[in-house]
Amino acid sequence: MKRAVVLAALLAVGCSENSEIDVPRDIARKAPATDSYLRPLGAAVATGAAGDDDGYLRAFVAGFTSLTPENAMKWEVIHPELGEFDFEQADELVALARRTGKRVRGHPLVWDGQLPDWVTEGDWGPRELAAVLRRHVRAVVGRYRGRVEEWDVVNEPLAADGGWKQSVFFNVLGPKYVEIAFRAAHDADPDAHLFLNEIGTEHPGPKSEAVLRLAGELVRRGVPIHGVGYETHTTVLDFPRKRYLATQFATLASAGLGAAVTEMDVTIPPEGAPPQALALQARAYGEAARACAEAANCTGLTVWGVTDEYSWRGADQRPLAFDPDGRPKPAFAAIVQALARRR
Ligand code: XIL
Repeated sequence: MKRAVVLAALLAVGCSENSEIDVPRDIARKAPATDSYLRPLGAAVATGAAGDDDGYLRAFVAGFTSLTPENAMKWEVIHPELGEFDFEQADELVALARRTGKRVRGHPLVWDGQLPDWVTEGDWGPRELAAVLRRHVRAVVGRYRGRVEEWDVVNEPLAADGGWKQSVFFNVLGPKYVEIAFRAAHDADPDAHLFLNEIGTEHPGPKSEAVLRLAGELVRRGVPIHGVGYETHTTVLDFPRKRYLATQFATLASAGLGAAVTEMDVTIPPEGAPPQALALQARAYGEAARACAEAANCTGLTVWGVTDEYSWRGADQRPLAFDPDGRPKPAFAAIVQALARRR
C-alpha cells in the first residue's frame, strides 16, 4: 500500500518545513525492545520505500533493532555541492530510528562510490582535498553526534588483490586519507564507534588478510578505529561458514577491535536455483548470525535492505529476509533463532 510522506511544518520561527516518515500507530506498536536480540539486528533503509510502502515499513519496524541509511548519507545525497549539505533524507531516517527505538549505524563517510562530480572531477591538491574531507566528516558526524552509535568511516578502501583501490582520495592523498577521516570523525563525536568497512572479505584471500593488516596498523599507530565491518554480499552457492567469520572476529578481538556483519544479502540465482534455496539462504544468514552472537566483540548484524522488492541485487534474486509483501522468510526465522536471548 502506498502512503504519502507527511510534511510536518515546524512551528518554531525560522525553521523551514521538515518532512518526516509517517509511522502509523499500529506499526509503531510492533517495534521490539531495543535490546530484544543478543546483538543489534539492522537493516539498510531507503527513504523512498520507507515512506511509500507500508509492508516495507512494517517489516522494518517489527523485525529490526538497528537502522543503516542505504543511500541517504552518501556524498552525492548529503553533500551535493562543495560546502552545501543536504541533510533532509538522513534526518528523516535518523528521526525514524529515534521514534521507533532503533540504533543507527552511519554509512559511509569516505567511499569512492556515489560521489558527486565536483569531487571526482575536481583538480585537487592534497591540502585542499584533505580540508574538504575533514570538513565533510566533521559536518556529518557532528550533526548526528550522540545519535549515531557506529560509523562506517572508511568504506571499501582495498582492491581485490589486497592493495589500495584507486580513488580520488587515494590518488590525491595516498593512504593517509584513511587516518584523516578516522581522526576527524573521532573529533566530531568522541563516543562514536568507528569502523573500517570492506566488501569481499567473507572468504579467505588476499583482501581478507589485507583488511586485518590495515586495521592492525591503524591500531598500532594510535588511529581511533574500533572495528571492522564484513559486508557479506553473498549467494546461496558460496556463503561464508560460521567458523570462518568466528576466526576473523577473534583475530580482531585480539587486536582490541570490534567486528560486525554490515551489509548481508544472499542471492538465489533466478535460473537454476538449487533445491531448497530458501532453506540454504536461511542457513547462510543463520551461520553469520551465530558467528556474531557467539563473538563478544561482534557489534551487530545488518541485512542490506528490508524486503526483496527493493534489493540493490535485484528483486529476482530474492536476497533478503522479507518477501516483497513484507512477510518474513525462513532467513528471518534463522537470524532470530541465532540472536534470541536464552533464559
Ligand atoms: C548500494 C545501495 O544499496 C544501492 O541502492 C546504490 O544504488 C548503490 O549502493 N557496498 C556499500 C553500499 O557499501 O553502500 C552499497 O549500497 C552496496 C555495496
